[in-house]
Amino acid sequence: MKKIVALILAVLMLAAVFAGCSKEEKTLKVALSPDFAPMEFVDSSKAGQDSYVGFDVTLAKFIAKELGYKLEIVPMSFDACQVAVEVGSVDLSISGYSWTETRAANYNLSDYYYAGDNETEQIIITQKSKENTFTSAADFSGKKVAAQNASLQYDLCTSQLPEDCEIVQVGDLTTALLQLMNGDFDAMAVAKGNGDVFISAHPEELGYSGFEFEVDEKFEANVIMLPKGADELTQKVNAALKKAYDAGYYKTWYDEAMALATGDTAQEVTYDDNGSVVE
Ligand code: ARG
Repeated sequence: MKKIVALILAVLMLAAVFAGCSKEEKTLKVALSPDFAPMEFVDSSKAGQDSYVGFDVTLAKFIAKELGYKLEIVPMSFDACQVAVEVGSVDLSISGYSWTETRAANYNLSDYYYAGDNETEQIIITQKSKENTFTSAADFSGKKVAAQNASLQYDLCTSQLPEDCEIVQVGDLTTALLQLMNGDFDAMAVAKGNGDVFISAHPEELGYSGFEFEVDEKFEANVIMLPKGADELTQKVNAALKKAYDAGYYKTWYDEAMALATGDTAQEVTYDDNGSVVE
């Protein structure tokens, strides 16, 4: 009898040890597209996981810590991030997502979080030589304007620019920026904070077009994207967001990200056709 009790105890203890281990080992896999400074980008002075920096990376670290998980950043193109959440190859994606009706219908979206003034305005940037020459939407008639695939900016272009303006879908903002400087497009739609970073990195080549989209307030803050039905994780994420907001972290995180994004080691990232980062 004693032996049986001892055996049961041993089994229970082992089970407890394994449960403890697996809890500690749990990794939160977060997809992001590091072509969107100051939200997510690459610091070339660092390597591996440490090289992913920006507001959303700080936020991802905070959330993982709150949940008691290890964090794994999984970099991929912006449209691939959204597919990864849908098919469940990652737990969630933090990649500067604006709230949109379509996303709300297809995913669990977190409560809003506020990343400085990055998305309070949505603008169009252009070559330096064409700076301030587009004062109304009609000025884009017959022009080529680039916007990221599966983005709010793409929706804004198709709904607000003239019908005869060619909207070019781009997978990766970094490559698109080079194409813009090369004259492949006349202009590119971007979030204001992101546009500020691009122009500060290439002040001789790039400028503001003079045009600003009309944007409803509901698109101004960001949300985290989770699989439809992942309600428990969504609640935990919302609790972490509330904690960060209440502690007043957002402004500090944004200012730090902006300083890093306009510094020397910020690097632009490109992807291959499968959406994977080209090293
Ligand atoms: N806020 C915009 C959207 O939701 C753009 C986000 C782009 N993010 C990125 N990491 N490239 O569509």
